[in-house]
Amino acid sequence: MTERRKLIVVSNRGPVTYSRDDSGERVAKRGGGGLVTALRSLVTQHDVTWIASAMSEEDAAVAGEAGGEAVEETADDGSPYRLKLVVHDPVAYDRYYNVVANPVLWFVQHYLWGLATAPEFDHGVHAAWAEGYVSVNRAFAEAVVEELERSPDASVFFHDYHLYVAPRLVRERVPDATMSHFVHIPWVMPDYWRALPEPIRRAVHEGILANDVVSLHTDRWCRSFLRSCEDVVGAEIEFEGGLVRHGGRETSVRARPISVDPEEFAEIAGSGEVRAAEHDIAAERPEFLILRVDRTDPSKNIVRGFRAYELYLEAHPEMYGRVGMLALLDPSRQDIPEYSEYLGAIQRGARTVNDRFQHPGWLPLDLRIADDFTQAVAAYKQFDVLLVNAIFDGMNLVAKEAPLVNTRDGVLILSENTGAHEELEPWVVSVNPFDVAGQAEALHVALTMAGDERRVRLEAIRRHIREHDISAWIETQLHDLDEVVGRSPTSISA
Ligand code: F6P
Repeated sequence: MTERRKLIVVSNRGPVTYSRDDSGERVAKRGGGGLVTALRSLVTQHDVTWIASAMSEEDAAVAGEAGGEAVEETADDGSPYRLKLVVHDPVAYDRYYNVVANPVLWFVQHYLWGLATAPEFDHGVHAAWAEGYVSVNRAFAEAVVEELERSPDASVFFHDYHLYVAPRLVRERVPDATMSHFVHIPWVMPDYWRALPEPIRRAVHEGILANDVVSLHTDRWCRSFLRSCEDVVGAEIEFEGGLVRHGGRETSVRARPISVDPEEFAEIAGSGEVRAAEHDIAAERPEFLILRVDRTDPSKNIVRGFRAYELYLEAHPEMYGRVGMLALLDPSRQDIPEYSEYLGAIQRGARTVNDRFQHPGWLPLDLRIADDFTQAVAAYKQFDVLLVNAIFDGMNLVAKEAPLVNTRDGVLILSENTGAHEELEPWVVSVNPFDVAGQAEALHVALTMAGDERRVRLEAIRRHIREHDISAWIETQLHDLDEVVGRSPTSISA
């Protein structure tokens, strides 16, 4: 049993969001997304105060009633934790989330711009940076400082690309705070960061370098991070030891691949709800089921995946009526034009495949747009081939979750640009996300792989995930913090 520690977790999306049910009662619903799922187990093991944005009107009401203080919450397993919801000005939040964090930072960090036509930083984007992203980060920093005053020996864990500026703002006020930052998405090479105006890319790097530790999922993202710190802010780098020196401070940089909780997953997969959903999928499934489960995010490469399937069908008429693709897609960030346009492209791509190959009694591509975790886990149990062809992806947790509960010795086709590929490469069919012909061939290889080989590969993936589970991920990060505590804190240079 590990020592219970005081932690302040800071992330944009919190572990629960509040609403009112039909009878007017306040209800707390589990927040979605990989980050929140991964961090939930922290609460059971440590003394956690979680700081997050108030997302709904009811969240804001909860925060208001508490006079801006944290409220006592209870995790699913009964563990208590404190939740502090930061209420932002709605216009500032819109600019932070819908103009900067997602269309700019998410896009730059997944190499989603072709650069001939995007990005374009007009006055609106500059204003959204200053009056949206920076203001919301300031509100987060304020909340962290208040918590540190209450609990000076707590360690702060920042999460993700929404909060790059906040650590520096906290450091200016609390120079000896112990802080780490986990980046859940890729880190790109320095030249691509130059798509961002100099003051913005500098603020991103200097903000995150105010932490004692910065962790990313893979060695590849860490190498890019070290190089861009050197290039963007002229930091001094120790590549071997993973150390950045800048502004009179040191930041350790570590590759810490996130994982899942295999026991929790086994439980979910065995639940009555999932079994009922699985029954429906099994009743309709083709002989060979190709599955993809994603948010409708341009980084997930869904349209090219459909095109690859079209090329596969073109080459394999013997599979007509026998194979099918099930695409379970969670609609994501639809207030952002790039995302709503992408959803349209996904629907058009699916129609192209079905118009070309469908015949009575056979739907080649079953596209379902819904936020339905139960259905996703049911489908995880049923796939013969799982297609994960992301353009770039920090980790991709679907690639870890689905093999754990699959019952058909399913094969994982995995993009070489996902973080998961760094760990699972020996046992997957690797693909280049842009090579649709290669992905079509990979579908054929996976669908015709011998039973023994499929079993050996799936078992190896499971073993790896069980040996590197979410508890190990958390423990390693606490250990990383212990290593830096005691390293002499110094102030930030102006
Ligand atoms: O790290 C990426 C991430 O923030 C995950 O936590 C989550 O799965 C996903 O993106 C969802 O993002 P959003 O909070 O914008 O819905």
